[in-house]
Amino acid sequence: MAEALVIKGLSKRFGGLRAVQDVSFAVQENETVALIGPNGAGKTTSFHLITGFHRPDAGSVKAFGRDIVGLKPHDICALGMARTFQVAKPFGAMTVLANVMTGAFLRDRHVAAARTRALEAIEFVGLAAKEQTAAKDLTTIDQRRLEMARALATEPRILLLDEVMAGLNPAEIDQAVALVKKLSGRGLTIVIVEHVMRAIMAVARHIVVLDHGQKIAEGTPKEIVENPEVIRAYLGSYVHPPASGDAHA
Ligand SMILES: Nc1ncnc2c1ncn2[C@@H]1O[C@H](COP(=O)(O)OP(=O)(O)OP(=O)(O)O)[C@@H](O)[C@H]1O
Ligand SMILES: [Mg+2]
Repeated sequence: MAEALVIKGLSKRFGGLRAVQDVSFAVQENETVALIGPNGAGKTTSFHLITGFHRPDAGSVKAFGRDIVGLKPHDICALGMARTFQVAKPFGAMTVLANVMTGAFLRDRHVAAARTRALEAIEFVGLAAKEQTAAKDLTTIDQRRLEMARALATEPRILLLDEVMAGLNPAEIDQAVALVKKLSGRGLTIVIVEHVMRAIMAVARHIVVLDHGQKIAEGTPKEIVENPEVIRAYLGSYVHPPASGDAHA
């Protein structure tokens, strides 16, 4: 299997804070890899570094064999890497269709073609009935679907999903898991950041664990849930959930 994404020695400081420290991992084509770890571990920052929103202090990022450090987010997207944002920023007053067309215009400047591409993505994520709804009027799960549709409309080969399941109820998590599997079935390479461990276990073939900016483990889901260091740093509250406010359920 070919490597879709290869990250080596990725590092980023914010003042005195080492947000990401010497992180390395690789993602094979059509593989789904999860990036997990406690709050502030450096997961979102890693996504920002990979997708060109922040420039790393050190390290390399290769997508499909090409070094992409220093490229602008738009150019990285054009190479076939798309992402969602942990804090979604849709154009609230615009319809679902118009929002997704902003993604589709990356590939096609003709309105009719962009519209067709956007409608395909909207259909794929299950939002077809709401293409004329204003983004601000969507429910939480539909906002996540919109984020995914907008990313998909750019025709990515790699998709980075940042907590697309946060705030969803159990039934909605099942729907989101099914959607991630459907994306993988379409041939996409996926990197997913998520605190919902049940969902991670259902979709990821390989898991990378960050803590305080550093990679503390990587392996199969089975290896990760049995890793004492990972249980100590992160999974403890998942294995023994608190009586209330279970963040990892
Ligand atoms: N632009 C920034 N300036 C300064 N510090 C930042 C910036 N972005 C992130 N940080 C800090 O870097 C660390 C890593 O943050 P990051 O958002 O990557 O964590 P995360 O793993 O995504 O956490 P969460 O699970 O809460 O989303 C945190 O301590 C955060 O406060
Ligand atoms: Mg984050």
